[in-house]
Amino acid sequence: MREQRVAPSILAADFARLGEQVRAVMDAGARVIHVDVMDGHFVPPISIGALIVQALRDRVHAAGGVLDVHLMVERPERRIEDFVAAGADSISVHWEATPNVHYALKAVRDAGLRAGLAINPATPPEAVAGLADAYDHLLCMTVNPGWGGQPYIETSTAKVARLRELLPEGMPLEVDGGIDASTAGECAAAGATLFVAGSSIFGQDDPGAAYRDLAGAVGAA
Ligand code: DX5
Ligand code: ZN
Repeated sequence: MREQRVAPSILAADFARLGEQVRAVMDAGARVIHVDVMDGHFVPPISIGALIVQALRDRVHAAGGVLDVHLMVERPERRIEDFVAAGADSISVHWEATPNVHYALKAVRDAGLRAGLAINPATPPEAVAGLADAYDHLLCMTVNPGWGGQPYIETSTAKVARLRELLPEGMPLEVDGGIDASTAGECAAAGATLFVAGSSIFGQDDPGAAYRDLAGAVGAA
């Protein structure tokens, strides 16, 4: 997760042929598959859970990829065990979703996974920069969490730049929401390293080609 990467988000995939869609982006070079878990509480919709991680694990791991789980759930510390058992490689928890964020991040690390801290658009960089010892990457939401296909919040670019100033050198910085070739380019220039993209990949006729275009736009593999 330390190199520049585009992470296709399966939230925008056709779930009736999920395996095939994941194969298409991995054949095109994707190695980080982003899985959006929503509980109907932290965010209004309910999306998918550990069963989908389990269903994809062998395919993704056999192709040399990782499953990057984004928990948009209240009290994420109660769910970590399930996603570890299902085969997740990294788990991000939201700063806004629990009063026990250190505990949640430690639970992820203790299980041998990479721990991510995710922040909503309204959460300032200064709130989380001081905790950098507790996480392995920072996920900066560039839309409000809960839905795919929303427009990129323009003030996010300055926020990414501020995070890059505040975070320790080399800390992976993931952006998520409204990412396409143009917004990914802005975020890359501001210091982001991992670019989550749902609609701009799986919403296209040829997700493999869309992946390659986006990866090319940010100089990723
Ligand atoms: C939104 C999710 C995103 C979502 C992005 O709450 O966290 O990962 O899939 O979708 P797009 O790329 O369509 O904005
Ligand atoms: Zn996400």
